[in-house]
Formats: sequence, structure tokens, C-alpha cells
Amino acid sequence: MANMKAAIIGAGNVGASTALKLAELNIADIVMTDLVEGMPQGKALDMMESAPLSGIDVSITGTNDYKEIAGSDIVVITAGVPRKPGMSRDDLLKINAHIIGEVVDDVLRHAPDAIIIMVTNPLDVMTYLAYQRSGFDKRRVLGMAGVLDSVRFRCFIAMELGVSVKEVSAMVLGGHGDSMVPLPDYSTVSGIPIVELIPKEAIDRMISRTRKAGGEIVALLKTGSAYYAPAAAVAAMAESILLDQKQLLPCCTKLDGEYGLSHVFVGVPVILGKEGVEKVVEVPLSPEDSEKLKQSAEHVKSTMEDLRKLSDTDRAEG
Ligand code: APR
Repeated sequence: MANMKAAIIGAGNVGASTALKLAELNIADIVMTDLVEGMPQGKALDMMESAPLSGIDVSITGTNDYKEIAGSDIVVITAGVPRKPGMSRDDLLKINAHIIGEVVDDVLRHAPDAIIIMVTNPLDVMTYLAYQRSGFDKRRVLGMAGVLDSVRFRCFIAMELGVSVKEVSAMVLGGHGDSMVPLPDYSTVSGIPIVELIPKEAIDRMISRTRKAGGEIVALLKTGSAYYAPAAAVAAMAESILLDQKQLLPCCTKLDGEYGLSHVFVGVPVILGKEGVEKVVEVPLSPEDSEKLKQSAEHVKSTMEDLRKLSDTDRAEG
């Protein structure tokens, strides 16, 4: 039987790291595409040459031609530009929306049966755009944010307690950005809630660090943003979908009444299987966390509105 197939659009830092991480799982052949000629081909060849040592036994190819994503079971979208000095939030939104629009058209043309995992920022709004543009069922368009945000929170909890990350689990909901909602009540070490193990001030400090974790890496790197943890997060989601594992993971998905929210893409716990987002899992939230989730969703909605206005201006200007 032919291997499953995963396409990665954008072979930059996040795309290439995701390709390697996914290839190491040995569950799907990988195709990476990028605008830059030779770059995805070069990175793919380099990865293939690591296979004899790393145990990779799937094929990894690079291309500039979208035709080669045909037959993909999942398409991970990492194409986009990062925000540069002098660029406004609206400029970034407009540029990445344009790129994502084109990419989604190519997915529709060549891999119409795929499940789309969005990675490009601003994440929640780009996921919404991919959903709208593709016309896919909402289960087949989801965004990677909560898994990354929660692994960062897990990491900080383990560092604070000086314990292995292995038994630390954590949950982070909401939009991907400053308004995200880490949930200490649903974060545990070997089943023990962290609120029983860590003083409140320290938990608040970790929550704040989790919210700003992307910025912390940007400030250190100076020339780009995080990619190792984002790639690991995408690989976990892809594995659950491709192997129909039904992992319960926080992902950006369309809400239609769940958590009292509608017509918005935001991070909540979901079950991921071969159909994509197979179920949104609703858990009781404290009134405070529920309010924070609502505010986070409002923030995403206002960016969705900004995007609509930018598109209307473009249309008016013809
Ligand atoms: N089609 C294919 N690839 C494209 C397109 C396009 N239309 N437009 C841009 N790209 C490619 C670029 O050539 C580049 O190689 O997308 C890649 C982006 O890679 P990086 O600049 O290295 O950015 P990266 O760090 O990988 O982040 C990608 O993921 O986490 C998010 O905020 C991050 O939105 C950003 C995205």
C-alpha cells in the first residue's frame, strides 16, 4: 500500500523543521514546496541524506510546483512573511492573507481532499481565511497554536518544579497571542493539579511567560521566530490525524455555540482523528477563565473584521 502523504507549504524555518520531524515519524511521504527556487529541493535532499542515520524510511521531496502536492492527506501551511521593522499589523495581515489566499487556491486545485493545518500568523485569522476560501467542512481546516502554547506552559512548569516534563500536562485555550488563556486548573503533574504544587505568584509568572513565549524567542534570535517547538507541535497534530489516534489536543477550530462562542476560530480542546477535528470538547471553566476566553475570541473577531475591511478596500480600489 502507498504511504500516506503530507505536503508542507513554505520550506522556511518552520516548514523545513516540520518536514524533518514528520519524516522521522515514518508515517507519510513528505513534499515541501516554496517560492524560492532550489531551496525546498536542497533542504529535502539534505534531509534524505540524513535518512541512513536517522532511520527515516519515507520519501522527502522539495519542489516549486504545486502539482506535486496532489494526493496529500494533510497540507501544512507555513508560507508567509514575518513582520519586519516599519511594517504595521495591517500590512502583515494583508500580505499574509494574500499569500494564504493563493496557497489555498492551489490546495483546492491539487489536493482537494486534504486536511489543512494552518501555521502562518496571525494564526486564528489565517485559519478562518483558509476555511472561508476553501469551502471545506470546518473539521478539515484547523490551526496550530494551542499545542505549542501548552507545551511551552508544560516546559515552564517542569522547569519551575525541577521535574521531568514527561508527566506534566497543561491546557491553553484562546487565540494565539497575548490574549491566550492558560488554564492552571487543568494543568497537572502526574495527575496532581499544579495549583496544589506551585504558589499562585509563580503560576501567574509562568502564565505571563507562556503568553509572551513567542516574543521571548524573537527577542533572543533577533532574525526570526521560533521553529523547533512549532514543528514538534504540528507533528503531534499530524500524527493524530494520519494515524487516527484521537488525541485530545488544544487546536484552533471554528466554534458554533461551544463555550458560548460562535462564528469565530479560536483554540479549544478537540479530538483529532482521520476526519480532522472530530469533536470539540467542552469543559467547565471558572467565570474568570470563561470571561478571558470570551475576550480572546473578541480579539480574534476584531482582527477578522480588520481583514474583511482590508479586502473591501482592495476590491473598491479595484
Ligand atoms: N508559496 C510558498 N511559499 C511561500 C509563499 C508562497 N506563496 N510565500 C512565502 N513563502 C515562503 C518563503 O519563501 C519562506 O521560505 O514561506 C517561507 C516562510 O519561511 P520563514 O520566513 O523562515 O518563516 P518561518 O519562521 O518558517 O515562519 C512561517 O509560521 O510560525 C509562523 O509566524 C510564523 O507566519 C510565520 C510562519
